[in-house]
Amino acid sequence: MKKIGILTSGGDCPGLNAVIRAVVKSATRRGWDVYGIPRGTDGFIQIYNGQCQPADLKLREHGYDIPGVVQGLDVLQFLSGSILGSLSKGNPNEPAVAQQVLAGYAMLGLDALVVVGGDGSLDIICNLAAQGNWNVMAVPKTIDNDVPFTEQSVGFSTAVDTVTDALYDLTFTAASHDRVMVVQVMGRDAGHLGLNAGIAGGADVILIPERAPQLTLAVIDAVCQHLAKIRSEGRLFALMVVAEGVRSPGGTLERNIGEILAQEVYDHSRNLCKAGHAAFCAMEAVDTRSTVLGHIQRSGTPSAFDRLLATSYGTKAVELIAAGQRNQMVVWQGGQVQVKALEEVLPVIRQCHQDNRCAGPVTSDSALVQVAQA
Ligand code: F6P
Repeated sequence: MKKIGILTSGGDCPGLNAVIRAVVKSATRRGWDVYGIPRGTDGFIQIYNGQCQPADLKLREHGYDIPGVVQGLDVLQFLSGSILGSLSKGNPNEPAVAQQVLAGYAMLGLDALVVVGGDGSLDIICNLAAQGNWNVMAVPKTIDNDVPFTEQSVGFSTAVDTVTDALYDLTFTAASHDRVMVVQVMGRDAGHLGLNAGIAGGADVILIPERAPQLTLAVIDAVCQHLAKIRSEGRLFALMVVAEGVRSPGGTLERNIGEILAQEVYDHSRNLCKAGHAAFCAMEAVDTRSTVLGHIQRSGTPSAFDRLLATSYGTKAVELIAAGQRNQMVVWQGGQVQVKALEEVLPVIRQCHQDNRCAGPVTSDSALVQVAQA
């Protein structure tokens, strides 16, 4: 019989609970004990400081309670967020914190730890794992979809659906008022979310950091020329997506890049009108509005695909532990779960952090960029 732990770490996303459910089901079926580590690595610190007992952290297939919310495991895959919590207050990069985390882990006597995390969490936790000789099974999650070697991280599909739905909903008000709606989406320095949802939601313009790192005059002008073409074809409204990682005209990262883009397009279209550009003179300037979707992209009911992915990942992680594997990450490649050694994944993550760029499924995205451009 084995004892394994599971934790969720970093920004939450839809599908975390579905991973937890799959891990608990697969492990308890084998007769193993599963310990749910609350709030990322903070749970180990609580154990170390006697704030909770190992028995408090035991997850069972049926009958563990989250007061007032859910009883039993089977509805878990429908719920967003993480029943374990995802935010660590202590920073394990600090030696004093790391020492407590390592001691708490040792007190639990785990055979392996399933870590559901993004690139940042994997980096930190694998550092701890190396110090404590832990066996880590990593499950990639993030709405940014920027974990290398996997085509899909848990949470991405639902976020794409959320943004796509928002674009659909905005179409009608845009059309009623002949407006250009700018939708600012998350993704940190990656444009995967903006690109995928922009295509699915029929956006006329999609700006992502990989292709339009900065709102230069050339970019704004190209956007306005494209809007002029749409107008010349008789449609006076349009939808635009801008990823939050696109920089301002001054080259800075701004929290309101959607608002900035809306203003830039408005100003430039006025200038084009003054310069006699027919499409913009018909109506003095393009009437723009911006919407920041914000954290709604991280919540919402997990999509069918996210539940499928999370369940496949969780099941595979337990299978790997049962087979005696060590330090692997489950990935989605070519329509199925595959396995990648963490010692191959980590250098790529660390190099990306060092170069200040994102990783992720770049190849599939280049194909999508062609779709968007066509
Ligand atoms: O990494 C996930 C993510 O949602 C990014 O897309 C976004 O930039 C960031 O987290 C927001 O973080 P916070 O919840 O700290 O505002």
